[in-house]
Amino acid sequence: MGLFTLNHSGSQTLLSRCGAVPDSKTTLHYDAEVYSQLDRPWDSIVRFLYVTLADLGWYKGTDEEVVMDVGCGPGRLTSQFILPCFPNLKKLIALDAVPSMIEMAKSLYPHPKIEYVVANFEDDSAVEWWKQQVTKFISVHCFNRMKSQYDAFKRVYELLPPNGEAALFFLLHNGYYNAITKLAKDPKWQSYITVNFLFSVSELAPCIPDSKMADFKKDLFHYTFKENGMNTDGTPVDKTTTLELVVQK
Ligand SMILES: C[S@@+](CC[C@H](N)C(=O)[O-])C[C@H]1O[C@@H](n2cnc3c(N)ncnc32)[C@H](O)[C@@H]1O
Repeated sequence: MGLFTLNHSGSQTLLSRCGAVPDSKTTLHYDAEVYSQLDRPWDSIVRFLYVTLADLGWYKGTDEEVVMDVGCGPGRLTSQFILPCFPNLKKLIALDAVPSMIEMAKSLYPHPKIEYVVANFEDDSAVEWWKQQVTKFISVHCFNRMKSQYDAFKRVYELLPPNGEAALFFLLHNGYYNAITKLAKDPKWQSYITVNFLFSVSELAPCIPDSKMADFKKDLFHYTFKENGMNTDGTPVDKTTTLELVVQK
């Protein structure tokens, strides 16, 4: 296995970038509507796809590629950014655990070569059909949500044929995680917050009564500003450490 890593610190307004470590038995609280409103992917993601992977010769294979994108969300990154990189594409399998994400992807970004599938990557049986068939595996901003990254990486290994490659891009740490952990310990909010995973506003939001939501958002901004500082235009800074990983079987 070859290994290539990079670290990156980025800055972006954050509230809609949310998710939580999933348990295959619990519902994932991702809002496809909110997520699909993001105007563009992070510059660092575009650079990873267009520069890093291109420089590593990812798109030059002579054989037809079977690509899998795990955690495809509402499909824009998959269809508008990943798909055009592969001139020799047989099929792009785009998975997401949340049905509304896949519904939105199918309606907004249909493509004859993309197969959108509702599947939780934590669940072995959901992906065993494609074992040894995926020549290029991609996952952006999803592996930080895996309950067991060890099992998830094992699953990637099993999906790849010999010489198959995987490219992963995901957060290692975000200052915003500290902010919501502190917010959850604030006596004002402590009694409302009953979830264990504090990676996301979308996990916390269902715990907060509607009548208190405006106050909750105010406090969330307060903790985030305190943790990360703010940009000159008053928007919160998002301090992020990201792992970019490219491996070959
Ligand atoms: C932050 S979004 C990233 C979407 C897309 N990759 C992008 O960068 O625009 C993370 C996505 O991963 C999905 N996800 C989280 N855990 C997952 C799992 N265990 N299996 C499949 N999808 C998952 C979520 O539903 C969500 O759509």
